[in-house]
Amino acid sequence: MAYILGIDIGTSGTKTVLFSEDGKAVASSTHEYPLYTPQNGYAEQNAEDWWNAVVNSVKDVLDESGIDSADIKGIGLSGQMHGLVMLDADNRVIRKSIIWCDQRTANEVDELNQKVGHDKLIEITANPAITGFTAAKILWVKNNEPENYEKCRHILLPKDYVRFMLTGEYATEVSDASGMQLLDIPKRDWSDEVLQKLGIDKALLGKVYESPEITGEITAKVASLTGLKAGTPVVGGAGDNAAGAVGTGVVEDGKAFTTIGSSGVVFTHTDKISIDKGGRVHTFCCAVPGAWHVMGVTQSAGLSLKWFRDNFCWSEMETALNMNVDPYYLTDKAAETVPIGANRLFYMPYLNGERTPHLDPNARGTFIGLSTIHKKQHLIRAAMEGVSYSLRDCVEVMREMGINVNDMMACGGGGTSPLWRQMLADLYACNVKTTLNTEGPALGVAILAAVGTGIYSSVAEACKAIIKINREQAPIPENIDKYERAYGMYRKLYPAMKGVFAELAEL
Ligand code: XUL
Repeated sequence: MAYILGIDIGTSGTKTVLFSEDGKAVASSTHEYPLYTPQNGYAEQNAEDWWNAVVNSVKDVLDESGIDSADIKGIGLSGQMHGLVMLDADNRVIRKSIIWCDQRTANEVDELNQKVGHDKLIEITANPAITGFTAAKILWVKNNEPENYEKCRHILLPKDYVRFMLTGEYATEVSDASGMQLLDIPKRDWSDEVLQKLGIDKALLGKVYESPEITGEITAKVASLTGLKAGTPVVGGAGDNAAGAVGTGVVEDGKAFTTIGSSGVVFTHTDKISIDKGGRVHTFCCAVPGAWHVMGVTQSAGLSLKWFRDNFCWSEMETALNMNVDPYYLTDKAAETVPIGANRLFYMPYLNGERTPHLDPNARGTFIGLSTIHKKQHLIRAAMEGVSYSLRDCVEVMREMGINVNDMMACGGGGTSPLWRQMLADLYACNVKTTLNTEGPALGVAILAAVGTGIYSSVAEACKAIIKINREQAPIPENIDKYERAYGMYRKLYPAMKGVFAELAEL
C-alpha cells in the first residue's frame, strides 16, 4: 500500500496526517504551541516551536500507524500564510516570526504605497498594501531592527521554513508566495519591479514552484530524527486556504468554500484571473497550476468565539470536560436557545483589525446593543452571527465582481457546527455542504503530493477520486428575511464606528 503525508503548520498547532493513497486518514497527530502578543496588535511565534511540533507529530503518526516509511510516496506542506521567518548566514532563526495577524505595520503600508504606488501594487500583486502581508513585515524589520535585517540571508514563510528543515532547500510555491506581496500574481513569479522599488534583494527569497511540483527530498539527518525515509519527495504544497480548497474539492470554476478557523475565509476558484480594483478581496495563485482564487478574509472568526470562550465560559469548559464533549458543543447549545438577531445584540468581529471589506487595522471588536436582558448565551450567539455577517460581506464583494457563489462548502472548526453552517446558508441564501473528508489543508497537500509523485495525473482527477460530500444544509426561507434585516443593520455599524476606531488607536 502507498501512503501520502500532509503536514499543516497552523496558528494554534501543527497537524500531521498520514493518508493511504486513496485519501483515507490512517493516523493523525497535533502538537500545539503558543502565540506571543508582546504589545497590542502584535502577534509572534517561534519557528523552532513549529519545527518541534512537525518532528513530534511525524514521529507520532509513524508510531501509531506502524507502517514502513519507505511506503510514503510523498509529503505535502501547508501552513498559516504571510508569516516572516528570517535566517542568518548559518541558517539560524534571527527573531521570532511576525505572523499573519500581526498589525504593527501601518507605517510600512504607507511606505509600500509611496514606493510602489497603490494602483501598481494592485496591478502586479493583485492586492493593495496590507498590514498582514509579508512585504510590510520585512520593511518593518528593516526600519525598526536594522541589525536583524543586516544579518538576514534568507526569508521564508512558515511552512517553507519547515521545508528548509526537512530538505535543506530554500523554496516556496505560488499560493503561499502570493501572500508575500512580492509576487507578480498574473505571471506567477517574483516581481523584480516590486522588489527593486522596496530595496529587497531577490536572493533572499526561495525558488518559486507550482504547488504539486517536487521541491526537494527528506535529508538523511531528518530521516534519523523522525523515522521518515531519506529521499522521500516533498512537494510545494500550499498556503492553508489554497490547501483547504484542494482538501474540499474546490478546484474548478463555480466552486467555493467558507472556512471558520482562527480567521474566516470565503474562497472561490477561478480559471481566469479576477482582481477587485478596490482591493477588498485578495486574488492569489491557487494550488491548481495555471489557476487563481479570490478570497475574502475575516481576521478573527473562530478566534472571536475562542476569545469569548477562554475569557467568559470557564463553567462551560469545566462542564464540557466532565461530559467529555467539546466546549464548543455547549456554546452552540447555548446560542441555539436565542433567536436570530440575539435580541437586538450585534458583535463586530474586529479583534485584530479587519481585512474584507474594510481593510482597517485599527478596527476593534465591539458588542453593540447590550441591555440587562442579555445573558451569556446572547453574547455567544451575537459573536457567531457577527462572524457570519462579516463572511457575508466577503460574498457581497465577490457577487459584485460577478463571481458566482452558489456551491459552498463549509470547513474549519466552525464549519463543524450545524448552527454556524445554518447561519451561513441563510445569509448566503445558498446550500452549504460539508465533505466526509475532514482533514482539510492536510488532505489538500497530501493530494498535491499524490499528484506531484504521479499517483494521480491532475489535482481535479485526484479530488474526484478522493473527496466525498457528506451533509448539505439548505437555507430556511423565513430565516433569510430575518437575517437580511439584521445584516442591513450590521452594515451600518462599521461606518458609524470607523472614526472612533481611529481615535482609539491614538489613545
Ligand atoms: C490568509 C490568512 C489566514 C492565515 C492563517 O490570508 O491570513 O488564513 O493563513 O490561517
